[in-house]
Amino acid sequence: MAIKSLGYIGVSSLQTEAWREFACNVMGLEDVSERCDAQPDEAYFKMDDHPYRLFVTPGDVETLQVCGWETNSAEGLQEVADALAHAGVDFTWGDTALISRRRVQNVLSFKDPSGNQHEAFWGVVSDFRKFNSATGVQHFVTGEQGMGHIVLPAPNFDETVAFLSDVLGFGLSDLMKLRFTPDPDEPVTRLWFMHCNQRHHSLGLFEMPMPAGCVHMMLEVNDVDEVGRCNDRRIAAEVKLTGTLGRHANDHMVSFYMRSPSGFDVEIGAEGRTVSNWSDYQVFESTVASFWGHDFSVGQED
Ligand SMILES: [Fe+2]
Repeated sequence: MAIKSLGYIGVSSLQTEAWREFACNVMGLEDVSERCDAQPDEAYFKMDDHPYRLFVTPGDVETLQVCGWETNSAEGLQEVADALAHAGVDFTWGDTALISRRRVQNVLSFKDPSGNQHEAFWGVVSDFRKFNSATGVQHFVTGEQGMGHIVLPAPNFDETVAFLSDVLGFGLSDLMKLRFTPDPDEPVTRLWFMHCNQRHHSLGLFEMPMPAGCVHMMLEVNDVDEVGRCNDRRIAAEVKLTGTLGRHANDHMVSFYMRSPSGFDVEIGAEGRTVSNWSDYQVFESTVASFWGHDFSVGQED
């Protein structure tokens, strides 16, 4: 497939300063806004060799703005463009301003059938400055696995899954069918996880609309101690815990969840598994999210 990894995430928010505090002092990213020529109320955050991986731009609603998917070459991006055109999906090539802002060679924009905004790009411009975490985080697990994973609302579930798998080439990793009441007649709500590289999943699709345009995004640090230190920083900053520490049954990630300034959750994890040969991997349905932990009821409490 032409899409190789999750490249960047953009957030639309009027709370740039809250994001700066959260991204730097809790998540442990590096503020590179100045280096990225940020406009007023914009912020750019670095976590590895890429010039930045997370950005915040001013907007009237607190919402996820865009997911950027990396292709490894001009041919890869053209393959995405051809697939979109063949499927009759509208897309636009980025103008010079967008290409310059994204710090890539070329970029195109499109929406999935649930209305989520995506971009695909190739050729990140990097000065290879060392990542310098505001809080001493040594290393985020990125590289060929991309920046982490993102779970998006997909109320038009079947169309969105078909688009991502048939047009963009994502493979199914595992799935869940959720019921929120004991009523056996309640229709299930589907939550599917999909891959585009060795990371167990780079994308999740949840069969519900979400006001913040995102269920959660996940960043992976190099060990469990780093997860614990991030949780200590969360407590010190009085950021709301939305899922207790636990280990997921699907990607084996040991992680916790917290509320971002824009209302969606951020998961910080370690020890996620990779799959080197997807043809030998068995897709499964899980009836639980985790082997242990991950009590999400804490997110419902005031
Ligand atoms: Fe996750």
